Amino acid sequence: MKIAVAGTGYVGLVAGVCFAEVGHQVACVDIDEDKVQLMKSGVSPIYEADLEELMQKNYAAGRIDYTTNYAEAYKNADAIFIGVGTPEQPDGSANLSYIATVARQIAETIEKDCLVVVKSTVPVGTNDKVEQFIHDFLPHNGEELIGNGIGQKIRVEVASNPEFLAQGTAVKDTLQAARIIIGTESKWAEDILMRIYEPFNIPIVPVRRRSAEMIKYASNDFLALKISYMNDIANLCELVGADIQDVARGMSFDERIGSKFLNAGIGYGGSCFPKDTKALEYLARQHGYELKTVKAAIDVNTSQKTVLFKKASKRLITFNGLKVAVLGLTFKPGTDDLREAASLENIPLLLEQGADIYAYDPVGKENFAQKYSEGSHGIGKIHYVENIDEALRGANVCFIMTEWASIKAVTPGKFKKLMRTPLVYDGRNIYNIDEMKEAGIEYYSIGR
Ligand code: UDX
Repeated sequence: MKIAVAGTGYVGLVAGVCFAEVGHQVACVDIDEDKVQLMKSGVSPIYEADLEELMQKNYAAGRIDYTTNYAEAYKNADAIFIGVGTPEQPDGSANLSYIATVARQIAETIEKDCLVVVKSTVPVGTNDKVEQFIHDFLPHNGEELIGNGIGQKIRVEVASNPEFLAQGTAVKDTLQAARIIIGTESKWAEDILMRIYEPFNIPIVPVRRRSAEMIKYASNDFLALKISYMNDIANLCELVGADIQDVARGMSFDERIGSKFLNAGIGYGGSCFPKDTKALEYLARQHGYELKTVKAAIDVNTSQKTVLFKKASKRLITFNGLKVAVLGLTFKPGTDDLREAASLENIPLLLEQGADIYAYDPVGKENFAQKYSEGSHGIGKIHYVENIDEALRGANVCFIMTEWASIKAVTPGKFKKLMRTPLVYDGRNIYNIDEMKEAGIEYYSIGR
């Protein structure tokens, strides 16, 4: 089928490449000409396993192209997928202006029947409005085909097809997804999506449009709740002398609980959980309902992000003038994304207190340096280092923020050998407590 994809971020680009991979003809649209040229040359604008390889393979095979010319891409498409951002606004609501722009461009350029498929996460009910919006902007209210004046009405409908990929494993998550949710209001729309997804050989769940929109939030918020629950229990474990990792292991054998997403840590970050929890809470409030469970998950997460800083502040008189090693900046391993990362909460606090920070991250340094440039920030300072030894050498304290493989590979002996004071705060429970103790390290982690 002929597919256009609007937006080449995580959602759009990965979807486009995977559609091409299963044999569809894909045009990816972005407003940024430099980015388009980059993608044409086979370079991915995001750090994502397997993506570049599939971009190059499918571009060479002529199944995918990249363009800023949206009119060309949209006019003959069987389906147009929208994967543009819906960033969170200060009140927790989603900013839908990018979707609205694309919807209007679609209305003004399509020349034949077309299914518009919204992949971006949008508040329940939004796709009804997107459909109305497109119809409002269709020339002559959809009475005539643009350009050729045949006078034939164009059929345009909007479907919801939420995306469940996780960053770092986006291609795998798409090609081997657990399920595909398609929310439509007609058999016509459902059939188009069935045909598009047939080659993926993944269970398809057809539902009404609003249910599809809700499935996305309900799924993400459930996982966010699961993490916040474990973090809450972890904090209690510390107070009562239990070990959260043993507790999680014990829980995991119950299939009703499952073994995934039971890791306590320094809170969830990324582009989805923080945004989607706040958005659903906001949606509920708008409807006069208080979504207490999700609100609790948000509150626990906010406090959890600085739990290590709070612990260290009790142990040390001040951070002023101390060499502080920070290992890991991104919100999780396998991505260069910093959105809602715990590092963004902790580093400003450390800088405010005059810490001399040596930050290491295998891929996130450049992005972080755009927010906090190398050098002084008030009474504090930040340096970015290429290797972990440089960060640890002579350090008074070390914070572990992300469980990158290179960070997990640091042996307890290395902290002892390189640090001035072997004081380690581990936000990802990487180390065995006894081994750290035996190596002579003062070690603090989460819920143990
Ligand atoms: C998530 C969902 O997994 C995905 O289905 C959805 O489409 C988008 O949001 P992502 O944000 O990329 O994906 O990463 P994920 O691996 O889910 O991790 C999110 C955050 O939760 C990270 O900060 C991670 O460190 C944290 N996390 C995850 C925990 O703290 N404990 C866990 O057990 C799992």
